[in-house]
Amino acid sequence: MKRQTMQIMTATILTVGLIVVNGVVQASVTNNLLSEYQQQGAQQPNPDNAKKMWTQRYQDNKAGKARSCASCHTYNLRKIGKHVRTNKAIEPLAPSINSERLIDAKKIEKWFKRNCKWTIGRECSPQEKSDFLIYILNQ
Ligand code: HEC
Repeated sequence: MKRQTMQIMTATILTVGLIVVNGVVQASVTNNLLSEYQQQGAQQPNPDNAKKMWTQRYQDNKAGKARSCASCHTYNLRKIGKHVRTNKAIEPLAPSINSERLIDAKKIEKWFKRNCKWTIGRECSPQEKSDFLIYILNQ
């Protein structure tokens, strides 16, 4: 796909995201991260893929347990989650409920790294991070 087409598509998606979450900061932080991921090779974000990955259970053979993003954040991103290991509450990830979400690129990167490693057993690719970002932004 041509770079220009991609930029137009990203802009369209972000406009939709803007209307949905009504959050200028969230949209601009997300926008910057998306263009970084594109520079690293990501194509157009696919939130349907993130939706699938969110509930997919990844087997951790060492621990003998299956893990998913929903293990801690629940299946409904608008709900308060619970850390599977510490039992501590995790505030909702949905920006429509929690205005503190997706406002800090460093924080997002830090938790993508940590959570992808723990859940999936490897770091997420730039494409997967783009997918997750748009998926979370629209919750
Ligand atoms: C073991 C529990 C756990 C699992 C599993 C988990 N997370 Fe998280 N996640 C956390 C915690 C703890 C935080 C940071 C605390 C907070 O911000 O409330 C966090 C924060 C985040 C953030 C930061 C959002 C922001 O702007 O504040 C993102 C994005 C995120 N998680 C995505 C994911 C994705 C994607 C997956 C699945 C690949 C996942 N998480 C799986 C516990 C988990």
